[in-house]
Amino acid sequence: MTACRSDSRQPVIKERELIKMALRNIVTKEDPILSKVCKPVDKFDEKLHQLLDDMIETLRKAEGVGLAAPQVGYLKRVFIMDLGDEMLECINPEITKRKGKQRVLEGCLSCPNDWGYVTRPMKCHLKAQNRYGEYYEVDLEELGAQCACHEYDHLDGNLFVGLIEERVDPKELEEK
Ligand code: NI
Repeated sequence: MTACRSDSRQPVIKERELIKMALRNIVTKEDPILSKVCKPVDKFDEKLHQLLDDMIETLRKAEGVGLAAPQVGYLKRVFIMDLGDEMLECINPEITKRKGKQRVLEGCLSCPNDWGYVTRPMKCHLKAQNRYGEYYEVDLEELGAQCACHEYDHLDGNLFVGLIEERVDPKELEEK
């Protein structure tokens, strides 16, 4: 068991990627790190790039939509979102506008037993920096807006469970 542990944890990663990327453990809601306020990123260096690469790999493996740095034990203002056609890297993000409402089913990789309906903005405007420190802005809607708000809350130590209006049993979701 011990000898093949790293292999069994990373069955789909190609050999070339193994050199550069590593899966990080996703902490769960009992961990006090998830209730702390994260600090801004001031160094856009190799360490940050490694963190982002690892977060991307970890998010893909977990088949999630978004992942925030505190979820992998790193108290910095960083999150990523897999929006299907692109992986958005958001460093020192700000959500400057929120418009409309959507009632959506939501979960969190750190809270595998908590699923439920929450109300999120239908649209939002996000300002952030990329891994090189360059500023960008993007308009998000639907899943993108939902995810950005969820991940942003992680950076301030807030979990989505407090927003649940109607709980859904995760077992019911698996059956669908
Ligand atoms: Ni989450």
